[in-house]
Amino acid sequence: MQFKTLPLLALAGYAAAQSNNTLNATLASNPDLSNLTTFLGTNPALVQALSSAQNITILAPSNQAFNELANSSAGLALASDPGLVTALLQYHVLNGTYSAAQITNTSVFIPTLLTNSSYTNVTGGQVVEAVLIGNDTTFYSGLLQNATVSTADVNFTGGVIHIIDSVLTLPLTVTDTALAANLTSLYGAVNATDLISTVNETPDLTIFAPSNEAFQAIGSALANLSTTDLASILAYHVVNGTVGYSSGLENGTTLQTLNGANLTITIDGNGTVFVNAAEVVTPNVLVANGVVHIIDNVLSPNATEGPAPSATEGTPAFTGASSVSDVPFTSGQPTPTTQVNPTSAGAGPASTAVSSSTSGAAVPMRTGAVGAVQAAALFGVPAAVLMGY
Ligand SMILES: *[C@@H]1O[C@H](CO)[C@@H](O)[C@H](O)[C@H]1NC(C)=O
Ligand SMILES: *[C@@H]1O[C@H](CO)[C@@H](O)[C@H](O)[C@H]1NC(C)=O
Ligand SMILES: *[C@@H]1O[C@H](CO)[C@@H](O)[C@H](O)[C@H]1NC(C)=O
Ligand SMILES: *[C@@H]1O[C@H](CO)[C@@H](O)[C@H](O)[C@H]1NC(C)=O
Ligand SMILES: *[C@@H]1O[C@H](CO)[C@@H](O)[C@H](O)[C@H]1NC(C)=O
Ligand SMILES: *[C@@H]1O[C@H](CO)[C@@H](O)[C@H](O)[C@H]1NC(C)=O
Ligand SMILES: *[C@@H]1O[C@H](CO)[C@@H](O)[C@H](O)[C@H]1NC(C)=O
Ligand SMILES: *[C@@H]1O[C@H](CO)[C@@H](O)[C@H](O)[C@H]1NC(C)=O
Ligand SMILES: *[C@@H]1O[C@H](CO)[C@@H](O)[C@H](O)[C@H]1NC(C)=O
Ligand SMILES: *[C@@H]1O[C@H](CO)[C@@H](O)[C@H](O)[C@H]1NC(C)=O
Ligand SMILES: *[C@@H]1O[C@H](CO)[C@@H](O)[C@H](O)[C@H]1NC(C)=O
Ligand SMILES: *[C@@H]1O[C@H](CO)[C@@H](O)[C@H](O)[C@H]1NC(C)=O
Repeated sequence: MQFKTLPLLALAGYAAAQSNNTLNATLASNPDLSNLTTFLGTNPALVQALSSAQNITILAPSNQAFNELANSSAGLALASDPGLVTALLQYHVLNGTYSAAQITNTSVFIPTLLTNSSYTNVTGGQVVEAVLIGNDTTFYSGLLQNATVSTADVNFTGGVIHIIDSVLTLPLTVTDTALAANLTSLYGAVNATDLISTVNETPDLTIFAPSNEAFQAIGSALANLSTTDLASILAYHVVNGTVGYSSGLENGTTLQTLNGANLTITIDGNGTVFVNAAEVVTPNVLVANGVVHIIDNVLSPNATEGPAPSATEGTPAFTGASSVSDVPFTSGQPTPTTQVNPTSAGAGPASTAVSSSTSGAAVPMRTGAVGAVQAAALFGVPAAVLMGY
C-alpha cells in the first residue's frame, strides 16, 4: 500500500514524542482497543501519521465491534481494493477535537479525513452525523447505520478518542443507496433517463428522493411522459453544488435544482420539514457525493407552492393523476439485497423531522445484516486481517 500520498501526513503539528498519552500509549493502555491496535499495526505508516496529527477525534471501534464484523457474512469475503482499508480508517477520524459534551440533541455533520475521490465526492471530506439520543452519543454513517459511544473522551496528545460499538459504514453511491432504501422506482426512473452517472459522480449533491409510494400514487401521469420530460422532473429533485444536511436547511431556504427551477424548504411549528408540498420522511441519508432526503411525493417544476397550512403529510404535485397498481419503472428489476438501517428512522434529526405515521413507509424492514456484498467490499480486508489471512 502507498502511504506517501496519505492526506493524514499533511496534518500540521507534532505531538510530544514521549508521554503517557501519545496515541500509541493510549491505544496500548485500553484493552478494549486491542483489536484496533492489532489492525493498525498492519498500517504502521498510518499510525505514524495519526500519532503526529493534532486536533483530531478518533472514533475507535471496540473489540466487540470488530468481533461482530469478523463474524458477519461480510467478514467472510475478501475485498480486492487495498485503498478501501485506508479510506475506512480515515472515515473514523474527524477533523477537529469534539468532546462528548459538544455533541447535543441537534445533529451536526462533521467532516472526516476521508477526502479521496475514489471513495467520496463531498468537498472538505465525507461527514459523519453526530447527535445525542437520550444519553447515547451516536454517530450515523452510510445507509443510516448507527454506532453508539461506549467510552467517551479518552484524551491523547492529538485530540480525543471515543470508543464506539460498531464499525462505521462508508456512504455508498446514490443509486446503491437508493436500492438499499427500497427507492426502486426512483432507481428505475434514473436508469431509464440515463442519469445514473450524473447522480453518482457529480460532487456535492442534495437529492430529494421520492418513495415508491410517491411514484405509484401519480402513476397515471408518468405513463405517457417522454424521456425528456421525465428527466426534467427528476432534475427538479437534484441540487448541484450544495450538500444540504438538515442542520443547514432553514424555513424559507430556496435551492436551485438541476432543472433550473427552485425548491422551497418549509419547516412547520412541529419541526416537520417540507420541500415544496412534499414532506421529508427520512432525512440525512449520507451518500458518497452528498446527502439524500426521502420524501413522500414526487415534485413537479410546475407546482412549486409550499405545504397546506397545518399539513401533516405532503400533497401530490401532479393534480388529476391517479395511482397505478405496479410500482412505476421497476419492471424487471432485481429485488434489492442491501438495506438501510430501519432503527434509525425517527432517530436523530428525524425525531423532529419525521412524522411517525409515515417514517416507516420508505424504509424497509431489515431482513439481515448490512447487505453482504456491499459490506464485504467495505470490510473484507480488515476482517481478513482479523481472521489471520
Ligand atoms: C508515565 O507513567 C509512569 C508510571 O505510570 C510515570 O512514572 C511517568 O512519570 C509518566 N511519564 C510521563 C511523561 O508522564
Ligand atoms: C480481539 O480481542 C479479543 C478479546 O480481547 C481477543 O480474544 C482477540 O484475540 C483479539 N483479536 C485480535 C486480532 O487482536
Ligand atoms: C507508534 O507505533 C507505530 C507502529 O505500531 C510506530 O511505527 C510509530 O513509530 C509509533 N509512534 C510513536 C510516536 O511512538
Ligand atoms: C480540517 O479542516 C480545516 C478547516 O476547518 C481545513 O483547513 C483542513 O485542511 C482540514 N484538514 C484535513 C486533514 O482535512
Ligand atoms: C480544530 O479543528 C476545528 C475543525 O477544523 C477548527 O475549527 C479549530 O479551530 C481547530 N482548533 C485548533 C486549536 O486548531
Ligand atoms: C467521484 O467522481 C469521480 C468523477 O468525477 C468518479 O470517477 C468517482 O467514482 C466518484 N467517486 C465515488 C465514490 O463515487
Ligand atoms: C440518562 O442518565 C440519567 C443519569 O444517569 C438517568 O437518570 C436517565 O434516566 C437517563 N436517560 C435515559 C433516556 O436513558
Ligand atoms: C442503533 O440504534 C438502535 C435504536 O436506538 C439501537 O437499538 C442499536 O443498539 C444501535 N446500534 C448500535 C450499533 O449502536
Ligand atoms: C480531556 O481534555 C479535556 C479538554 O482538554 C479536559 O477538559 C478533560 O478534563 C480531559 N479529561 C481527562 C480525563 O483528562
Ligand atoms: C454541477 O455544478 C458544477 C459547478 O458549477 C458544474 O461544473 C457541473 O457541470 C454541474 N453538473 C451538472 C450535472 O449540471
Ligand atoms: C436500465 O435501462 C436499460 C435500458 O437503458 C435497461 O435495459 C435495463 O433493464 C434497465 N435496468 C434496470 C435495473 O431497470
Ligand atoms: C419496497 O417497496 C415496494 C413497493 O412500495 C413494497 O411492496 C415492498 O414491500 C418494499 N420492500 C421492502 C423490503 O420494504
